[in-house]
Amino acid sequence: MNPLLVKGIRPYGEGEPVDLLVRDGVIAERRSTVDTIGAEVLDAGGLIALPGFVDLHTHLREPGREDAETIETGSAAAALGGYTAVFAMANTDPVADNAVIVEHVWRRGREVGLVDVHPVGAVTVGLGGEQLAELGTMARSAARVRMFSDDGHCVADPLLMRRALEYSLALDAVIAQHAEEPRLTIGAQAHDGELAARLGLTGWPAVAEESIVARDCLLAMHTGARLHVCHVSTAGSAEILRWAKPQAATISAEVTPHHLLLDDDRLSTYDPVNKVNPPLRTQADTKALRAALAEGVLDCVATDHAPHAPQDKDCEWSVARPGMLGLQTALSVVVATMVRPGLLDWRGVARVMSERPAEIAGLPDQGRPIERGEPATLTLVDPDATWTVDAAGLASIAGNTPYQGMELPGRVVHTLLRGELTVHSGTVRRKDGR
Ligand code: DOR
Ligand code: ZN
Repeated sequence: MNPLLVKGIRPYGEGEPVDLLVRDGVIAERRSTVDTIGAEVLDAGGLIALPGFVDLHTHLREPGREDAETIETGSAAAALGGYTAVFAMANTDPVADNAVIVEHVWRRGREVGLVDVHPVGAVTVGLGGEQLAELGTMARSAARVRMFSDDGHCVADPLLMRRALEYSLALDAVIAQHAEEPRLTIGAQAHDGELAARLGLTGWPAVAEESIVARDCLLAMHTGARLHVCHVSTAGSAEILRWAKPQAATISAEVTPHHLLLDDDRLSTYDPVNKVNPPLRTQADTKALRAALAEGVLDCVATDHAPHAPQDKDCEWSVARPGMLGLQTALSVVVATMVRPGLLDWRGVARVMSERPAEIAGLPDQGRPIERGEPATLTLVDPDATWTVDAAGLASIAGNTPYQGMELPGRVVHTLLRGELTVHSGTVRRKDGR
């Protein structure tokens, strides 16, 4: 591979522009000017370099729902969104609850080669919530699974959750919980608030999430195991985490871009593109979640990228599947909700989108400093760009973006994975040259 000279970039948006010489997958030089003959030159004037983003929560839908997304199209969407590693949730069909499926996902991710695809293993057999899956076999497989989750479903049985946490200790793994007490969300269609009541939709109350968050924080303290709380959506969950986290360093939590930006006002459209689980909450919740992310009570942003085929989304609210696209819009939503209002600087963006998720998942070569000798796994961002979201122009097969037609700030221009440009000027560069 030819060396690559990245000219005039500002790491973390700080200080004077520098040149980065990328050779053999690493940052070989970082100086105010580097001159190298024979290097491919990337003019990065005006751009900011961040460590490549890591998404702890992606639904790639393969195997089973390749009409909504595949590992190939989802990887392209991820790379275009500035991601260099994603965690593919286990709620595929068949479920990723055994070594065969997780190895398939891992292998296919490697073949595509646009991002590191790490399969998440299911906690329970078939996501059934009754019997622990073979966590050890998945951990020892070629995919080396280190994150387990029944996402889409909650591990509701407290004894099973306790056992999963105990087993995870021996495997050096983390259990990611979709916090939803199912007995409190039977028939739930939307956030349990005024608007849902007026529309006659059964409510999904905040306490259904918060009671599980509280219980699992206590179980994490009791077992000493690593708990990661998926898609925190309420101010109350953030309060519980604010209390629990100082007592147990093994607890972490994520928030999605859509729970930072959108609220249950969206319900008035009755458009199922806004249906998601957990549901869009109140404006007071979005405000509390932004503050908690800025403070570090919430560790990171994770997309919960959830593509759905048209027949599952373009239908009545009550039968539509929950979920929305997120990979290609995540950075822009973080810029709109956190950077522009002054809640996070670009260092902070690096922390919540790359460094913390890499630490939580135990990825040694992601979320690294932008320094000489470190992997050239980077996202190069134009902080001043604005763009208008158009589902038809996104890489995903499905088109269920809630941001259709919205003008968003900040844009990923180039993405590098171990020195290779996976995205160049907003276009995917495939390994096979396609
Ligand atoms: O909205 C959601 N969609 N929430 C989940 O927990 C699962 C996900 C999906 O798989 O579509
Ligand atoms: Zn979930």
